[in-house]
Amino acid sequence: MIVVFGSANIDLILPIPHLPEPGETVLADELATAAGGKGSNQAIAASRAGGPVAFVGCVGRDGYGALLAAKLTSAGVGIAGLRRVPAATGTAIIALDRAGRNTILVASGANALARATQVPERWLGPSTLLVLQMEVAARENWRLLRRAKARGARVLLNLAPAAPVPASVLRKVDYLVVNETEALALAKSVGRRVVRPAAAAKALALHCGGVVIATLGAKGAIAIAREGTLRVPAPAIRPIDTTGAGDAFVGAFAAALDRAESIEAALRYGVAAGSLACLVRGAEPSLPKAAGIATLVRRMARGDRGKVGKRR
Ligand code: RIB
Repeated sequence: MIVVFGSANIDLILPIPHLPEPGETVLADELATAAGGKGSNQAIAASRAGGPVAFVGCVGRDGYGALLAAKLTSAGVGIAGLRRVPAATGTAIIALDRAGRNTILVASGANALARATQVPERWLGPSTLLVLQMEVAARENWRLLRRAKARGARVLLNLAPAAPVPASVLRKVDYLVVNETEALALAKSVGRRVVRPAAAAKALALHCGGVVIATLGAKGAIAIAREGTLRVPAPAIRPIDTTGAGDAFVGAFAAALDRAESIEAALRYGVAAGSLACLVRGAEPSLPKAAGIATLVRRMARGDRGKVGKRR
């Protein structure tokens, strides 16, 4: 069973010609909304990728909170651990440029009230894969991680957005997933000054108890364990919106691990899911289903380097 503890946001998406410089005003022709939040996205991604998933977090008692609860449920995610609290549902403002790149600002709102105690003890055991990100209070993450490890669960920490991690916590993490920026920031915080993300991931592997996975955008992903390094290149795509690609990777990777696939197979599955997520605008709408991921994995295995086209 996969337990995702984390954030749920409503995403307000502004498609703009270019990302603003400090002090610059940029006009968008429209405002689009979509379900988002790294926790909710990863729970939905894992469920669509075939995993049994429970989401634990907080949303407000407002319309957006109801919408997010409905999205999770219709994706097959269990929401017995989701609380409606007296705060506004988390909100992300996403500026999206024509190359599919984004900048994201998040008002935490209800996410700041998520507590580790919302996860019942019986959900944490040797067959649990606990998935954490950094859009809820870090101390709640660390509390839950310690409880989960004491009960024999595996823990995947997606350090998004980047934040320092206590050494005692890092040693307990089974799978640390970071993007290029996060890898460099965490390596710096543990005293390793490196300039290349792959080198940062290697440095982190000396501090992390488990496997370090670095997602490298168009270059794919690498997994670094004490025994060696695995590398999975990404298929060629023309991205429309990279929002949620990291979440698609984490959810699919977790689903593959939950069904006891090898790290290499899980990495390939995650890279395929992340690539597919770049082809549709919005986070939740872009999270791919198991069949689509499996098809792309087969293409990748054949070494088919042709461009993967628009999904809808
Ligand atoms: O990872 C993408 C997500 O980051 C968005 O859905 C947004 O809500 C922010 O949490």
